[in-house]
Amino acid sequence: MVSFPFIAGPLFFLASLWVPFANPGALTGETLQDKAPTLNKPKACAECHPKQYDEWKGTLHAKSWVDETYQQALKHKRRPRSCYACHIPASVLERLPKRPRPRAELKDAGISCSSCHVKEGVIQGNLGVKTDAHPSAKSPVFAKGSSQLCISCHKSKVGPVLPVAKDFLASPLPKKGKTCMSCHMGKVMRSIAVDPKTGKDQGPKRKGRSHSIHGPTDAKFLAHAFRLQAVFGKEKTQIQIQNRAGHRIPGLLMRAFQVEVLALDGKGKTLWSKRSLISGKASLAFGEALHFQAPKAAAIQAKVSHLFSAGKGIKNLGIIYDKTLKASKN
Ligand code: HEC
Ligand code: HEC
Ligand code: HEC
Ligand code: HEC
Ligand code: HEC
Repeated sequence: MVSFPFIAGPLFFLASLWVPFANPGALTGETLQDKAPTLNKPKACAECHPKQYDEWKGTLHAKSWVDETYQQALKHKRRPRSCYACHIPASVLERLPKRPRPRAELKDAGISCSSCHVKEGVIQGNLGVKTDAHPSAKSPVFAKGSSQLCISCHKSKVGPVLPVAKDFLASPLPKKGKTCMSCHMGKVMRSIAVDPKTGKDQGPKRKGRSHSIHGPTDAKFLAHAFRLQAVFGKEKTQIQIQNRAGHRIPGLLMRAFQVEVLALDGKGKTLWSKRSLISGKASLAFGEALHFQAPKAAAIQAKVSHLFSAGKGIKNLGIIYDKTLKASKN
């Protein structure tokens, strides 16, 4: 059990901060969360949810305001405020299915814990657990099969951003019960909170998901976007590289993939090779494949490099997929 002072802390914040502003109609322009900066401080949640905090801290969500690429892009905008909504959002849940409103406080906290979890002063989740630590409720937005939360910010084409959530919605994946989380937040089984006094796990182990969002900065994860297949014929080799992500790739105009396909002889010598670029302007749709026809070969190799361009030329971030398929002997 949490001792009284620790219960009193957050409860006091929640009660005192939310009650005076319980009438949203009276507010002009500002949001409820603008008035409740303490609640937006991820550090306040970290006291009892250190695992989620440490994971979140490493994501681009946590850096969505301080991100240098984003800050550079803002400098070129005449109305930079139009770029705030998804990068420093107030409550996402209060605005669904529309995109959130920007908040004025604590910009450095980026897409904070409360951006995703707080609605009208109550912490919403997927579990419906009862706790003295804070008011909480089970929300249909977090229910199995729902991707609503992610879709609100990821469905628009804006600045360099492409609408990946629209692709996902048009794909057969939602009908199969898949969500954005299925691929981007790994499953975990653990206590979800600790006693802030002792740091010891509190409560039973529960089914949850890791908050370290898998994304393109993780080379291993990026490799999941590609599948190489080849049909070795007597005269020709048919090759395809298919997009296995839940949407088009890439999802950002600044990102591209350089694909190199090689046909090899029995000794591994290159007989034939071809290059192709997958970019924001020439993206690979959900399930779509690049097709190549090579001469008869003993093996096929595909290498994919990850390219990023932000102002000063193009950076090659290295090879993220390297696979060889051999013709079976018969
Ligand atoms: C509707 C929500 C939304 C709005 C409004 C928005 N963004 Fe973003 N922004 C995103 C999302 C989502 C990503 C992540 C896209 C990805 O990685 O595929 C992103 C990523 C970026 C990145 C890439 C950061 C990096 O390091 O990878 C830049 C730069 C950026 N946005 C600039 C802008 C600019 C400039 C504006 C205003 C014109 C803007 N954004 C407005 C949602 C938004
Ligand atoms: C004083 C400790 C404490 C603080 C501070 C705290 N929490 Fe919690 N939280 C808990 C405990 C305890 C549980 C329930 C654990 C259990 O039963 O397994 C919980 C449960 C949750 C749940 C699950 C809700 C559900 O029913 O699905 C979420 C989400 C959550 N907290 C988010 C937050 C966020 C976001 C913050 C910061 C704004 C925060 N918590 C601050 C202790 C805390
Ligand atoms: C079947 C697995 C799968 C599902 C489902 C899925 N994704 Fe992805 N996603 C990937 C893979 C793999 C990549 C890496 C390829 C890339 O970056 O283009 C990726 C990349 C991304 C990126 C970075 C794009 C870029 O190029 O910067 C964003 C943003 C993203 N996903 C958001 C979402 C959202 C939001 C949803 C739900 C609407 C979703 N994803 C559903 C697998 C998936
Ligand atoms: C981008 C949105 C987003 C942000 C930001 C976010 N969460 Fe979550 N959180 C989720 C989703 C989605 C789930 C439900 C996962 C599932 O289905 O199991 C969740 C679940 C939880 C849970 C319930 C148990 C678990 O771990 O799965 C806790 C506790 C929690 N979050 C705390 C936090 C804290 C603390 C922060 C900030 C450090 C945070 N969250 C930031 C989306 C978010
Ligand atoms: C409040 C708006 C918002 C919500 C809600 C949101 N995102 Fe994002 N997401 C962004 C922005 C903005 C970025 C880019 C931040 C930057 O690079 O500056 C981003 C980046 C990403 C990336 C690339 C991140 C990386 O670390 O490489 C992925 C993948 C992603 N989001 C998936 C998700 C998933 C899955 C959910 C739902 C659990 C979700 N997002 C909810 C706005 C949002």
